[in-house]
Amino acid sequence: MRNKSSVMIAAVFVALACAMPAAAQTLDRIKETAFIKLGYLDDARPFSFAGSDGKPDRETFLRLLAKHNTSAVPTQYSRDGIWVQDGRSVDKLPGFEEGLFIVQGEASQLVGYLAAPVEGELILDGCAAPGGKATHLAQLSKDRAEIVAVDISRRGIEKIRQNCARLHLRSVRTHCADLSQPLRDSWAGPYDRILLDAPCSGFGTLRAHPEIKWQRNITDVLRLSRLQALLLERAAGYLKKNGVIIYSTCTLMSEENEKLIQSFLSRRKDFLLEPAASYLPEPAQEIIHNDYFLALPNRHGTDGFFAARLRKVN
Ligand SMILES: C[S@@+](CC[C@H](N)C(=O)[O-])C[C@H]1O[C@@H](n2cnc3c(N)ncnc32)[C@H](O)[C@@H]1O
Repeated sequence: MRNKSSVMIAAVFVALACAMPAAAQTLDRIKETAFIKLGYLDDARPFSFAGSDGKPDRETFLRLLAKHNTSAVPTQYSRDGIWVQDGRSVDKLPGFEEGLFIVQGEASQLVGYLAAPVEGELILDGCAAPGGKATHLAQLSKDRAEIVAVDISRRGIEKIRQNCARLHLRSVRTHCADLSQPLRDSWAGPYDRILLDAPCSGFGTLRAHPEIKWQRNITDVLRLSRLQALLLERAAGYLKKNGVIIYSTCTLMSEENEKLIQSFLSRRKDFLLEPAASYLPEPAQEIIHNDYFLALPNRHGTDGFFAARLRKVN
């Protein structure tokens, strides 16, 4: 079964490469990860992290899980993460009702460190639903920043509210809006920090969503890349001088990642790329590529994830 699927994936990539020679290079990374990790789907389990200020730390939480016969180990790269090996649904795990954790991939957690939010700051999460990163930003800033979580989806906004209520977080406000359009003045900042976890083709999540290989093609990648560029340009307009934007995606397509950032920087001389390495915990230093954060499923055992840290310098 695994071999048959691999052959079928190869066929799709060859077809795409022929149709779009310029994009063939960017597919190499995906080919590599798809081949190597295809059979790992059955091993996938949620990563989670312990709750906000005043909640048990990771070691205490692991002991609590062990007491309830729930097998869990600390994550390798994130200091807030655990890897739960348990067949029960997430809401049946110890600590769920009490809001001790939320499900979030390990690579996603590392994006929170890149943002490095600080107490008292005004922070915009521009594409926030269902709130995995917004709640992590709240946790990292001890629930004492002011986080504005914007999303175009009403249902997504409701998920953010539910997650914040369950985790007892008070520093997140939600606002349903299309970030590609100007935000109303009362929501337009200026912000100290902005996270733009952009809608993307999702090729970094093939382990959990193998259907993406069949459903998305290069036309989607280019359409998304245009939307991402627009969202980044809009977000940049809401930032304070000396403020920071984290741009992230869960895809490995350079049109949505490195090329998009390079094109932004060539137009916007008021922004600089900051080295991601300076903001990540020691074990995660190996997930750096040319100052970007670039997690690869085959190398790091996480979802594929990209992030860039941009500072507005004048
Ligand atoms: C990758 S998901 C965000 C995941 C979220 N940051 C988290 O960590 O839980 C991208 C989000 O962008 C939202 N989105 C798509 N287009 C948007 C737009 N034009 N304005 C605002 N949000 C948008 C989607 O509804 C989706 O929730």
